[in-house]
Order: sequence, then C-alpha cells, then structure tokens
Amino acid sequence: MTKIAVIYYSSTGNAYKVAQSIEAGAQSAGAEVRLRKVRELAPDEAIASNKGWEQHRVATQHVPEAALADLEWADGFAFGTPTRFGAMSAQLKQFLDTSGGLWMKGLLADKAATAFVGASYAHGGQETTLMTIYNMMYHWGAIIVPPSYTDPSIGKAGGNPYGTSYTDPRGGELPAELLAAAHYQGVRLTRYAAVLAANRAALRG
Ligand SMILES: Cc1cc2nc3c(=O)[nH]c(=O)nc-3n(C[C@H](O)[C@H](O)[C@H](O)COP(=O)(O)O)c2cc1C
Repeated sequence: MTKIAVIYYSSTGNAYKVAQSIEAGAQSAGAEVRLRKVRELAPDEAIASNKGWEQHRVATQHVPEAALADLEWADGFAFGTPTRFGAMSAQLKQFLDTSGGLWMKGLLADKAATAFVGASYAHGGQETTLMTIYNMMYHWGAIIVPPSYTDPSIGKAGGNPYGTSYTDPRGGELPAELLAAAHYQGVRLTRYAAVLAANRAALRG
C-alpha cells in the first residue's frame, strides 16, 4: 500500500479542509494516509484573541501532531499552510527544519512531494508560498508532483498548476470545485508516490 503523509498547519481551518480532501483523494487511489498537523507555536493569548483560531484549535485536538517518523514512513508528502507574508507559516517551517537528520541520511530523497496553500486575497502570495515549500523539496531530493492542468478540476478551481490554493472565505465554505481539485491532487500524488516507491532501489543505484 502506498504511504502518504498529509502534513499541514492551519490557524482558522481552511488549510485543514484542503488537507482532508487531499487525504480522501489519496485514500481513493489506494493509499494509507497519515493526516498530521504540525505543532502550534503561537502563544495562548494570541490564539484566544481570534475566535476562529481558538475554535479550530479545539476542533482539531484529535488530529495527531506530525513527527519525523511520519516523514521517514511516507512514500509521498503533501504539505500545506496558510501564507504568512508570502511564505510558509513558521509552524510548518519549524517542523520541516527538524528534518536535517533524515535529510543527511538520504531518507527524504526520491519521494513524491506536493503542496497546498491559501491566503486572504486572491493574489496574496499563494504561488510564492508554494515555492517556499518546493524550494525545500529540491534540497531533500524529493520529486515535486505539481497538479499542472492534468485534470479539468484544476481549471474549475481557479487554475493554479503549482498546487491547490484557496482564497480565505472568511468564515464561509471553501468552494466545492477547490476541494475537488485538492482531491485530485491527492490522487495524483499517490500515483507518483507508488511509482517512485516501486522503483526506489533502482533509482538509488
Ligand atoms: C501573520 C500573517 C500574515 C499573513 N500574510 C498574508 C499575506 O501576505 N497575504 C494574504 O493574502 N493573506 C495573509 N494572511 C492571511 C492568511 O494567510 C489567511 O487568513 C489564511 O490563508 C487562512 O488559512 P487557515 O484558515 O488555514 O488558517 C496572513 C495572516 C497572518 C496571521
């Protein structure tokens, strides 16, 4: 069974919903999925000052925190975050910054990786934020699996070939079209992760 880790940070729940759609897509393609949130770093008083943030934290207490063992375990990764000034959140970066030991052993190379993001504004930094994740993937030697326009769902969701990206609906629902594109991204990630996993020994020579 192909092993997929969906690892995300979300303060007010949108990235979490996208993560769940990617999880469902990966499962529909036959993957075993670990859906994991990264550790919250913000102080309690900052979280309490934003009702949506506090509610989301309480609502997702059941989601396990990501561990380095999840990275080692997985054949493919989907990383997600809201944008923070055009870059990934500190919470996701802090987790990824602990991966040096695995990287030194070559345990992150030759695995499939994709990413998803969101921002308040339609042009608030979605693509630059995706790049901050993908830049790390180059260093890992992971194989980036972008959705491109390989499925009609991408165009219907706004046409971001780099990865699913939402505009914050500010308390409303994310569009069904966007979640459908995320579902497809999970399917595509799983297909590539399976091919890479089956050929990893040959790829490593
Ligand atoms: C410190 C900080 C920086 C942010 N920077 C941006 C930004 O540069 N552009 C933007 O459109 N939204 C920005 N946002 C808004 C969030 O990205 C947006 O609300 C988020 O995508 C919501 O996702 P979530 O519900 O998963 O937390 C920022 C929010 C915070 C707290």
